Amino acid sequence: MFGPPLVTRLVAHPSTALSGRVSVPGDKSISHRALIFGALAVGETRIDGLLEGEDVRATARILGQLGAEVRRDAAGCWRVRGVGIGGLAEPDDLLDFGNSGTAARLLLGVLAGHPFTAFATGDASLRRRPMGRVIDPLTRMGASFIARSAGRLPLAITGAAAPAPQVYRLPVASAQVKSAVLLAGLSAPGETIAIEPEPTRDHSERMLRAFGAELRVEDGPEGRAVTLLGQPELTATPVAVPGDPSSAAFPLVAGLICDRSELTLPAVGVNPLRAGLFETLAEMGADLTLENRRELAGEPVADLRVRTSALKGVEVPPGRAPAMIDEYPVLAVAAAYAQGTSVFRGLGELRVKESDRLAAVARGLAACGVAVEETEDSLTVLGRGPGTVPGGAEIAADLDHRIAMAFLVLGLAAQAPVTIDDGRTIETSFPGFASLLRGLGAEIEESEAA
Ligand code: S3P
Repeated sequence: MFGPPLVTRLVAHPSTALSGRVSVPGDKSISHRALIFGALAVGETRIDGLLEGEDVRATARILGQLGAEVRRDAAGCWRVRGVGIGGLAEPDDLLDFGNSGTAARLLLGVLAGHPFTAFATGDASLRRRPMGRVIDPLTRMGASFIARSAGRLPLAITGAAAPAPQVYRLPVASAQVKSAVLLAGLSAPGETIAIEPEPTRDHSERMLRAFGAELRVEDGPEGRAVTLLGQPELTATPVAVPGDPSSAAFPLVAGLICDRSELTLPAVGVNPLRAGLFETLAEMGADLTLENRRELAGEPVADLRVRTSALKGVEVPPGRAPAMIDEYPVLAVAAAYAQGTSVFRGLGELRVKESDRLAAVARGLAACGVAVEETEDSLTVLGRGPGTVPGGAEIAADLDHRIAMAFLVLGLAAQAPVTIDDGRTIETSFPGFASLLRGLGAEIEESEAA
């Protein structure tokens, strides 16, 4: 019974006429936050549409280890009985963040405000990612850390007995770092201020307000300043999680590049700080409409309608990167099928995602017969036009769900099938990805191998 671990090989075959209406899973960023704020609130928070991917399950499990009661009532429907700010308890075992950078950074922020020691680790991908970006501000607030070289996991954190408020200027535009600072600031008296160089996703801010915290957001010469008044009482609040625009991006691009396709993806989040891909695809000439715009639990949502389109190359400015940081792999796939050259700039952060995504995208496109140029922080894709991408490569997912999904989408419109060596990592953010696409008419083969 002990053999080499199983891997899931996935093969995307050329497919046409994708059609139908399907819901994508709940937003990953909002799902983590709903569980975390629920655990820090007083009372019971009910969450509908929670993403049940491995990343969010890691957050749920860890909050349970810290003494919050987290229960699954039915598919997507969860309840969290919170313990109040500062009310979490010392865990009696290692905390395993799995593949999730968001779980790691946000929960370290929470732990920084609790005066006990916890030991944390993650999978091989997360153990190579930088945690210094949260260790630095959280140390200033009074927490202490012992971490591996370059601030990497595994690490030990001892939260501050008397957390101090601070004004923190983020060196990188990162919603995870901003959220970690704000979460630690919940336990500090007075005002904690996080100043970001470029606005990043504001799900934490929206949800903090919904749970009753006092928050100010001001744009100034240094960037966007978010000021939180510490030690509020958070009150349990129901959360309905919109569909994840970062997950919707994959069927969306498949619908654009596969011949004779027409898809509808209902109730997808269209928060302006996440909507960079929609803007970019519109500039590329995509037949994409956002219909029936409405609000779901304080977040804007819309139904996305997409049809096969003749795309043209595009230049994406660096300032747009925070609003579409997770979408570059699949945007690069769209660019491969566009007529003309695309240039994406300001991509330094892609090098520290679940894999070095800039290198992985460039390598994968080249293997599929698409000419690319990669610099330290930019990518140029020489589009080949509809139906002309050779494909036929095997791509190593390297524990990166978005690399796996992006190249499967590429394979659906290529001249020869594209194989992903191991697609298990897709479970972190998009459980059921292959079967959802098959339901739309895509041919994706799945097999287990040793
Ligand atoms: C996230 C922020 C982004 C994004 C990640 C989710 C969040 O990371 O890439 O998938 O939920 O705050 P950074 O904050 O590192 O840019």
